[in-house]
Amino acid sequence: MGDLRLAGRTGVVTGGGRGIGAAIATFLADVGAHVIVADIDLETATRTADTIRSRGGAAEAVRVDVGSSAGIDPLVEHLDVAGGPLHFLVNNAAIYAGLKHTPLEDIDEQEWDSVQRVNVAGVWNCSKRLLPALAASGHGHIVNIASAIAFRGSPMLLHYVTSKAAVVGMTKAMARELGGRNITVNAVAPGFTWSDASLEMSTDEQLAAQIARRSIKRAQQPEDVTGAVAFLCSDLAAYITGQTLVVDGGSHMN
Ligand SMILES: NC(=O)c1ccc[n+]([C@@H]2O[C@H](COP(=O)([O-])OP(=O)(O)OC[C@H]3O[C@@H](n4cnc5c(N)ncnc54)[C@H](O)[C@@H]3O)[C@@H](O)[C@H]2O)c1
Repeated sequence: MGDLRLAGRTGVVTGGGRGIGAAIATFLADVGAHVIVADIDLETATRTADTIRSRGGAAEAVRVDVGSSAGIDPLVEHLDVAGGPLHFLVNNAAIYAGLKHTPLEDIDEQEWDSVQRVNVAGVWNCSKRLLPALAASGHGHIVNIASAIAFRGSPMLLHYVTSKAAVVGMTKAMARELGGRNITVNAVAPGFTWSDASLEMSTDEQLAAQIARRSIKRAQQPEDVTGAVAFLCSDLAAYITGQTLVVDGGSHMN
């Protein structure tokens, strides 16, 4: 049997500079993991790593752009220098902040392409570049951050909803392909979460409507997502793969 404590484990959280990614990175470090906070914004990634260290944890920050395979080079180099296997990868980085609710016929083609490149190909890029290090651990865990929006099919964000639905499909295909290397691949699909990005993008009425839809009638916070991710990064979940766990206070139910 495994243990939720991740002492002795090393892992990467992409997009760990702020919001849900920062909460995940901090919690994983709190339960003992050595966390590499990877973000396109090195300043915020460094802030998360500093927070973790100030709580007694182990963390470093690395600048990556998950939107291309070459953008992962600094992370691969960092892992080569540090040596040792990688036990988990949380593919959380995505273009979400700043997206405007837009009718599908008005979505800018460049924005469409950027969202697919970062949110979809980003999961592929990061996973494929870190596969050797994950396989070397003997029991690697990949957790992709999808979104409950993929099940709800919310209007006016077609590029984003499409990207998150793709992550659910990728999770299944990757799980089948990587099981032979003893790597599990699962997704966590948060509901609408009161991260900085969401609060910047939403009106008070939209925030209230989100709460009303839940079984648990309160706002979802970034910290509500962290336990599910930690479980799937641990050997307690060694026989779970290809699954998407919706964490949304009981709004969408399978
Ligand atoms: N906030 C929500 O309501 C919600 C709900 C469901 C799922 N999600 C998902 O959770 C994750 C985090 O959401 P958030 O609200 O914290 O969003 P956010 O936009 O605040 O954070 C995204 C993080 O990813 C980083 N990033 C963006 N592009 C990158 C790139 N090319 N390479 C590396 N890093 C990059 C950003 O710098 C940022 O730190 C995303 O995958 C998002 O789609 C969010």
